Amino acid sequence: MEISVKTGDVLTEPADLAALGLFEDEALPETVAGWIAPGDFSGKAGQNVLLYSRGDASPARVLLLGLGRRSALTTEGLRQAAATAIQQGRTLQAASVTIGLQGEWPIGATVAAQAIAEGVVLGQYRFLRYRTDLSREQTHEVSHVALLTGDADAAAARAGVDVGRAIAQGANYARDLVNTPGYALTPAALAGEAQALGERTALKVTVLDKAQLIEGGYGGILAVGQGSVNDPRFIIIEHGEAKAGVPTVCLVGKGLTFDSGGLSLKPAEFMTTMKSDMGGGAAVLGAMHVVTALDLPLHVVGLVPAAENMPGANALRPDDVVTSLSGKTIEVLNTDAEGRIVLADALHYALRYKPDAIIELSTLTGAMVIALGAHATGVMGTNEALVEQLRKAGEATGERVWPFPLWDEYKQMLKSEVADLKNIGGRPAGSITAGAFLAAFTGDVPFAHLDIAGTAFSERPAKPYHAPGATGVGVRLLVDLLRQYAPIQSVKS
Ligand code: BES
Ligand code: ZN
Ligand code: ZN
Repeated sequence: MEISVKTGDVLTEPADLAALGLFEDEALPETVAGWIAPGDFSGKAGQNVLLYSRGDASPARVLLLGLGRRSALTTEGLRQAAATAIQQGRTLQAASVTIGLQGEWPIGATVAAQAIAEGVVLGQYRFLRYRTDLSREQTHEVSHVALLTGDADAAAARAGVDVGRAIAQGANYARDLVNTPGYALTPAALAGEAQALGERTALKVTVLDKAQLIEGGYGGILAVGQGSVNDPRFIIIEHGEAKAGVPTVCLVGKGLTFDSGGLSLKPAEFMTTMKSDMGGGAAVLGAMHVVTALDLPLHVVGLVPAAENMPGANALRPDDVVTSLSGKTIEVLNTDAEGRIVLADALHYALRYKPDAIIELSTLTGAMVIALGAHATGVMGTNEALVEQLRKAGEATGERVWPFPLWDEYKQMLKSEVADLKNIGGRPAGSITAGAFLAAFTGDVPFAHLDIAGTAFSERPAKPYHAPGATGVGVRLLVDLLRQYAPIQSVKS
């Protein structure tokens, strides 16, 4: 899809569909007012009405999009409105869609255009790889989108479009990976995707295979992967290099290409959707994709421990003790709490970069789905400033995050008699004890854990720019954080 910026007006620019964003506290443009009964459209946020111009305007169809009060407009409002426009365009089989806003562009044309471009690219996404039953009409895509602005806003809007498109493409890339079933996206296949990314971009990609994992002592990744015929991998993706004055940030993502629970097998109804258990890893790959596209002035290292958690003759048993890469031993009491075991190795590995911050994402606990549902990602950290930056990035991107405490009492719940720590802390505070487990492997480095179990995948879309399946959560959040990145002050919480 091509997204351009033009100066002009949606009512005079020809298009198959024109989308016009209107504000609640402002009068309708005169032409539009003539097409609609007073009171049928108030401009309330989320409202939309499709009208036919019958020769009164250049586009045959005009979609009115309510944006709420001008003073209360957010990027999320624009993102959602743009997604609604593109979905309407698709339904109508429009080849070209124009998008405009009433009056001057609020909240800054760059930021507004970025949000609209994101909404358009995210809103067009569907996962159709395995669908052979759809007609051409049903798979139609809008090929041209033009944002119409005033003269003063055009240059700024262009800059925003380029950024928004790159970010949303990164998120859609992550969605494709997450939506791919486990048989097709094995740990080796995920590593292959990372390598392909390295070949297309300036990213430096290294993959450790099973022999190298054995050689290097990656006991956690190996233990979780040992029940599967699909061997584990460890993926390392690097942007930029360590240099004085350039902050280093490590992004770590859980890469369970399928989580059956292992010998602590999941009940059937909880096992479906577990192809999405590499959602954190996909977010890291997607974010790295954007980091290199925007060439951010940072040293960013993406780390994805990839494994398949399966029962089998060689599978990890409950009661086994695993020696992780750090040397710390883990008593495995439930093989379904496997994410934290592979992440222990990846987090310890991150320390070799002496990073300024480690941000880790994982579909870690069912308890987080219960706590926050699909509407927010849980965050826990050892550094308040880092958690606060993530919270702000969540507000800016619409990928909200909400904090949980990591007090010492929760770490105590992981004490084991037979090893250094056990991999489960019981049902109470299950999400927090999982976070406390991870924090045990991050030394003194400012660390934040994002539990995306509730936000990575949804059969019923929660937002107009979502589709059934993967949301790509984390990509936009991480990129926003990295673009705003201020080196973390060491305030231990
Ligand atoms: N991958 C799951 C968590 C999950 C659940 C993600 C639902 C997305 C949706 C994780 O590996 C897991 O099974 N966790 C267990 C931990 C328990 C055994 C302590 C859980 O949450 O039940
Ligand atoms: Zn599990
Ligand atoms: Zn899992």
